[in-house]
Amino acid sequence: MREYLPLLIVGAIIGVFTVGFIVAFVTMKDKKEAIGFDRHIPDKEIISRLLAYAKPYRKEFGLIFFIMLLSIGYDLISPVIIGNIEEMIKTEFELPELYRRVVFYALLLVLSMFCTFVQSVMLQRTGQKILSSMRKQLFTHIEGLSHAQLNNIPVGKLVTRECNDTNAISFMFTNILVTMVRNALVIIGVLAAMFMLNLELTLMILCFVPFLVLFTVIFRKFSRRAYRRVKDGTTDINTYLSENLSGIKVTQIYNREGRKMQEFLGKSTTLKKAKQKQIFVFGIFRPMVYMLNISAVLCLFYLGSRGIIKNTSFMGQVITGGTVVTFYMYISKFFNPIQTLAEQFNMLQSAFASAEKIFTVLDMKPEVLDEPDAIDLEEIRGEIEFRDVWFAYKPEEWVLKGVSFHVNAKDTVALVGATGSGKSTILSLIVRNYDIQKGQILIDGIDIRHIKIASLRKHFGQMLQDVFLFSGTIRSNIVLRDDFPDDEVWKACRYVNADSFIGKLDGGLDEVVRERGNNFSAGQRQLLSFARTVIHRPEVMILDEATANIDTETELLIQDSLAKMRNIGTMLIVAHRLSTIQHADNIIVLSHGEIIEQGSHQELLHKKGSYHRLYMLQYNKEQLLQGQE
Ligand SMILES: Nc1ncnc2c1ncn2[C@@H]1O[C@H](COP(=O)(O)OP(=O)(O)O)[C@@H](O)[C@H]1O
Ligand SMILES: [Mg+2]
Repeated sequence: MREYLPLLIVGAIIGVFTVGFIVAFVTMKDKKEAIGFDRHIPDKEIISRLLAYAKPYRKEFGLIFFIMLLSIGYDLISPVIIGNIEEMIKTEFELPELYRRVVFYALLLVLSMFCTFVQSVMLQRTGQKILSSMRKQLFTHIEGLSHAQLNNIPVGKLVTRECNDTNAISFMFTNILVTMVRNALVIIGVLAAMFMLNLELTLMILCFVPFLVLFTVIFRKFSRRAYRRVKDGTTDINTYLSENLSGIKVTQIYNREGRKMQEFLGKSTTLKKAKQKQIFVFGIFRPMVYMLNISAVLCLFYLGSRGIIKNTSFMGQVITGGTVVTFYMYISKFFNPIQTLAEQFNMLQSAFASAEKIFTVLDMKPEVLDEPDAIDLEEIRGEIEFRDVWFAYKPEEWVLKGVSFHVNAKDTVALVGATGSGKSTILSLIVRNYDIQKGQILIDGIDIRHIKIASLRKHFGQMLQDVFLFSGTIRSNIVLRDDFPDDEVWKACRYVNADSFIGKLDGGLDEVVRERGNNFSAGQRQLLSFARTVIHRPEVMILDEATANIDTETELLIQDSLAKMRNIGTMLIVAHRLSTIQHADNIIVLSHGEIIEQGSHQELLHKKGSYHRLYMLQYNKEQLLQGQE
């Protein structure tokens, strides 16, 4: 009986830990949170959609699998070789024989390392290809979403989808899946090899497996919760950062740095705590598996050295020093993959969660779509008509109520009205940023829904109050999608009076434009946006408060270029300064989404209606200002 005392002690220690874990598990709070990553797309669908991305690389994955089998072969054979060497040293030692075996082992090792290298290079390559095609698909899809859909998703989230989530999936292909398959095969292979070598020792090792399984199950619950909290915390911080870094200047102006810092610290602390918990969970689990591993080794050594299992064996093998060495190596090859499998299961779950988020974006059907029989418009005259147009951003909250007007080709028409009366909305409906609910919008007598969106927008140039410049150069911001020779670019710049300030820049057209063009003044940005419009020679030009917030000197330049631009094509202008629009062929006065007056400047003044009131208001204000000067 005393012979078994050490084994009983090992058993007792493991037993105590097991009871502790079971208690921790039973008393665990928020079990629900640990059950899984809630998903609305079933696992089966996620897997089949993910596999579709891997499908083009079947051959590569097949080859990777084959190479993996080779390196698994090494894992299984090497303990036997080492065991044999040990055996030989103890019994019939011969130096040349030892050399031969060591060289053989070294060769195998090199081969295995080479296989691992080739495998990981191939995997990374394939993974990057999958990643880039996924990113491309997602980006193209996001580009096709309508304004209404884009308004609903924070940019920070889209960035996370496009970067982190696609990365998680690529990591799943290159790392998790392959190691999981590999580990599963290694476990099976090691078990089989151990069975062949010695049944009794294998059974002894198998006694530890139930504990391993139990620990793993409990660990998975705890770690999944920890994992989820880390992930949520990361997304939260990403979204917060991407919004607040864009708005950091506002924060500074309103002295909100301290407050924002507190908010950020709060989020950062949450993430820190989640991360610490995760490390804690792993910090318990890994030593536990190691404890089982060591216990198994101790039992092996004990049983081996005491000769308790005496020369009895499955395949007629005796238990020798060599067998003990071989088993010693097998034990760690057996426990390690089980530990990694348990840990990687979470990563797999999280990759699935990422996949679901990406698929959710991909499943958003673009709302504004080409009709199947939509036509291409090569050239247009630029005649625009609204026929009883009704439009609402939110159901039943009408922003435009039965708007009808007609614009002749090459005419200049101005929209006037209080803030929120629907001017910008009208302009964005013409280029189909949104689809209208009732009525018709016609270009050259054709309903815009029958025209391909790309072909429709090609004919429009938009100049908005908020000019968006991309980081790049002056040239790249003017030519955008197309290629124009420099003299064309300069011609456009001269046309809109942007040439004088560009000429003074050190780099000229090559001057660097920083993010959002914040190294230029509002007026300069506006002139660049005019040049950008003019160079593309649109048949219809749209100006939405493009002349607001501009100093008098630039305003004069802009007035001058506007006068020239009127010759290019149809022009729709929204401007607060009525002096800007006096020469318009038609002025449409809007109020609460309805047209209340229209006519030329003189006609509207004679009418003495809303326009007249507005005009007198501005006129008096200007007189007042001049009087003050
Ligand atoms: N993206 C949007 N989502 C919901 N409502 C909007 C959106 N854009 C504008 N609105 C609403 O539509 C109305 C008209 O806005 P807009 O056309 O921008 O007015 P204006 O350009 O004449 O100042 C406003 O009441 C505004 O609140
Ligand atoms: Mg507006």
